[in-house]
Amino acid sequence: MVKMKSLRVASDKSISHRAVMFSSIAEGRTVINNALFSDDTLRTIKAMQSMGVRIEVSSRRIEVVGVGKYGLKEPDDVLYLGNSGTSMRLLSGLLAGQDFLSILTGDDSLRNRPMGRVIKPLRAMGASIMARDNDLAPLAIKGSNLKGIKHKMGIASAQVKSAILLAGLYADGDVEVVEPYKSRNHTETMLKAFGVDVIEDGLAVRLGKNRQLEGDLAIDVPADISSAAFFMVLGALKRDFELVLKDVGLNPTRSGILSVFDEANVDYDIKNERLSGLEKMGDVVVRFSNNLRPFKIDGELLPLLIDEIPILSILAIFCDGISSIRDAAELRKKESDRIKSICEGLKRVGVKTEEFEDGFDIYGKPNHPIRPALIDTHNDHRIAMSFSILSAVSSVPIELTETHSILTSYPNFLDHLSYVSS
Ligand code: S3P
Repeated sequence: MVKMKSLRVASDKSISHRAVMFSSIAEGRTVINNALFSDDTLRTIKAMQSMGVRIEVSSRRIEVVGVGKYGLKEPDDVLYLGNSGTSMRLLSGLLAGQDFLSILTGDDSLRNRPMGRVIKPLRAMGASIMARDNDLAPLAIKGSNLKGIKHKMGIASAQVKSAILLAGLYADGDVEVVEPYKSRNHTETMLKAFGVDVIEDGLAVRLGKNRQLEGDLAIDVPADISSAAFFMVLGALKRDFELVLKDVGLNPTRSGILSVFDEANVDYDIKNERLSGLEKMGDVVVRFSNNLRPFKIDGELLPLLIDEIPILSILAIFCDGISSIRDAAELRKKESDRIKSICEGLKRVGVKTEEFEDGFDIYGKPNHPIRPALIDTHNDHRIAMSFSILSAVSSVPIELTETHSILTSYPNFLDHLSYVSS
């Protein structure tokens, strides 16, 4: 008999960060429903509060009293952003436009992630930014009168694109960012909802004349497809099982996992497709899937599922053949070097992999045996969650060096996992 369960996973992290930042510099109040309260998003909330924004937080709802574009105050201490790359890169853009000093830092992992990619264009716009080795946090940012920029990005990165657009709100002159491939467009979508003139033109994004944000908005945050992904893969691999994942954000710049599911022959449906504000969402139904086929991820697909590679690697173990990931050198710059963390973990559980500079191959087969192992998560939430899913679907004990990192994006993950496993 098929067992059926339903789950609403954690809310979208990218949208929650943006909702808090943008409503802080809008005129008027904004209500954010179903915001994600995780370690990362709490860092953004605290940072905005320490710049004088009134943010009231109750169980699932946040109310932000916007101070307007020029209403932020100099923080009286360093802004500590924990593990959150999105907080650091987006705030760098926002702070480049402020006429005060701010110092941004974070944990060991964040202090070793490249910031040159935002520092360079922001300096070109006129901001003064100091950084360790010219690339690493702590960053000291002193804003000034910014000028426009035409920036051609070498990598597809929503964080870099967003930093430039946020600084662009304060710039005189034309602002244009061009990506090699389209990355998530939550910044563009949400700025439009706040009334800013944003023009999306293929791979280019431009700011138009109106760069003020009007508040008095209600934002509903969908469930995070990057968090749903763990349970989508569990649903595909758990025998006699069907899982309904409710209210999942299905923005096409985030839903690349669905094309991999198509290629891999995963049995799934999308139900109740609807718009929440300007963002698409729906319920994802996933069933146990036989005859899984190997898949290839490269090129323009990569940014559309960049955070799902760890859990898709778990799916690849049970596909009949070699799955390959290429053009993915960016994975080495995430919360951990994910190419290394994944390959090392897969080897430990007995799965053959071949590592390349920009990706890896996974040698999968149906019913692949899994060995009990201790996995080093490298303090990376997505590595910890991926191997927890592998343990659940294979019923093989897999120990993790830590699970604390999971709090950065999905505080209820382990409870949800025991609910669907029971
Ligand atoms: C994010 C963008 C992505 C993603 C990260 C969140 C965002 O990073 O990996 O988890 O909210 O903009 P890059 O834009 O650096 O690829």
